[in-house]
Amino acid sequence: MGPEVASEAMSVPILVAVAWPYASGSRHLGHLAGAYLPADVFARYQRLAGNRVLMVSGSDVHGTPITVRADAEGVTPADIVDRYHAEFVSDWDRLGINWDLYTSTGTQNHAEVTHDIFVQLLRNGHIDKRSSEQHFDLEADRFLPDRYIEGTCPHCDYPEARGDQCEDCGRTLDPEELIDPRSKITGSEPVLRETEHFFLRLSDFESELSEWLDAREGWRPHVLNFSKGWIEDGLQDRAITRDLEWGVDVPVDDLGPGKRIYVWFEAVIGYLSASKEWATNRGEPDAWRDWWENDGARSVYFIGKDNIPFHTIIWPGMLLGYGGLNLPTDVPANNYVTFSGGKASASRGVGLTIGEGLEMFEADAIRYALAASFPEQSDTDLSVEEIARRVNEELVATWGNLVNRVLSMVHRTCGAEVPSADGRADGDLAVLAAVDTAIERVGGQIDRVELRAGIRTGIEAAAAVNAYLNATEPWKLAKSDPHRAGVVLGTALAAVAGVRVALSPYLPFSTAQLDGLFGELEGWVRVEPVPGTPVDKPTPMFAKVDLAELLADEQGDEA
Ligand code: MF3
Ligand code: ZN
Repeated sequence: MGPEVASEAMSVPILVAVAWPYASGSRHLGHLAGAYLPADVFARYQRLAGNRVLMVSGSDVHGTPITVRADAEGVTPADIVDRYHAEFVSDWDRLGINWDLYTSTGTQNHAEVTHDIFVQLLRNGHIDKRSSEQHFDLEADRFLPDRYIEGTCPHCDYPEARGDQCEDCGRTLDPEELIDPRSKITGSEPVLRETEHFFLRLSDFESELSEWLDAREGWRPHVLNFSKGWIEDGLQDRAITRDLEWGVDVPVDDLGPGKRIYVWFEAVIGYLSASKEWATNRGEPDAWRDWWENDGARSVYFIGKDNIPFHTIIWPGMLLGYGGLNLPTDVPANNYVTFSGGKASASRGVGLTIGEGLEMFEADAIRYALAASFPEQSDTDLSVEEIARRVNEELVATWGNLVNRVLSMVHRTCGAEVPSADGRADGDLAVLAAVDTAIERVGGQIDRVELRAGIRTGIEAAAAVNAYLNATEPWKLAKSDPHRAGVVLGTALAAVAGVRVALSPYLPFSTAQLDGLFGELEGWVRVEPVPGTPVDKPTPMFAKVDLAELLADEQGDEA
């Protein structure tokens, strides 16, 4: 068996499924830390490790988040969607979020896949039609689904809860549960009026889902606890159509006009429809099946905690009812990143938009600071000051300086080329072994979605190489023992090449800056630099952040 065949056999199809952002407003650094960046780090690692990654998402363009915004601005929902979809695509590009496909729920393909799932669930008896009373605004002469209703949360008494979800306690709601409901359109008190809708019979799957959740291993405790708690409260059948004009249309026409499929029912289907779209784009329309029908495939869903029940209960329930498709392997939902403390962000409440963040910091600097505080087990707090501190004291001081120092010395001392690897002593081999161990460790941590630990391990490996240089002092050897200086610097350079691999999923831009010297990354393994390769005088990989200047700019912007 040739090596190529062997690696094919070990290559696992991994679906990296990432929450679909509502195209209704700018995304913040908190959203980035919650879903998109963790997914990208995970996917970059898995590709290098030789697995077959399919990373998909797209803009969630339907539902009341879009229409409420359009109403407020007096423009069409399509105007809102076009504006934010374009902004997101540019955000991903500037941040290096490397999708296999980033699409939207506004495609014909998505509507078709949604219809197929709807019809199949209907045929299998898991969807039925019911009449119920819903809020109606007499002044506006229309029903008020989801975010068109605000009121007091029945669970936590938060007075500004929205009809679909309470922002305060995070619970998903039906508008009819709200206490003191009021219309978002006219502010008036709505009346209840009879209307017909299709319901997903989630209760059909109660015991199957409960058993499935009980059998999950390695899931984050907060995700499992929340999901099990949701089922223990009793699994309610849920309306999956709405009285709205904006959305995917209902594939059977017996509800009459003015009804659309509920945004959450179709948005989760996006993972499947995007996989099909990707396959069709490649000219292999069946290629999606490897990720969805293959027992050996993994599917990992990257989401924020407010989306947990849709991914651990409702979507798995839909998949069970449809049949033949893989349920999520893992849903490593993140908690929230809150932005407080920082003077520069204080006026912004929920934090910086991605665009604002990119005006202040380089993409890799943001990626570093967010990854170092990913809210994996609990909420974390960030501020502009904290990002700046992490960038300066950790990223620049440890990794940036190491690269700069080693490349400068090799340039000066070794005739501006990679020295030979001959003559390494035990101490030299030990630092390389430490780097190799770190690469393996980071790989395991990323594979388990312990991404915060992974970046720490990578930075610690850089610190170990710095310690090796401090112990061997090649700048002194350059005069006393030039041959030995070459061995030490060649070793340090090989170690840098290794640390680069370990940090590469987190820092793609600075990784690519070293392509000329070390070559493009081809696997999750350290590769010896090729002796004789030219080593130019380096330019620093990252700029030190001048916090005073940043804060002064911000003050200026606000004035
Ligand atoms: N649009 C939702 C949000 O921004 C997330 C949808 S995730 C998916 O909170 F499951 F629907 F894809
Ligand atoms: Zn609440």
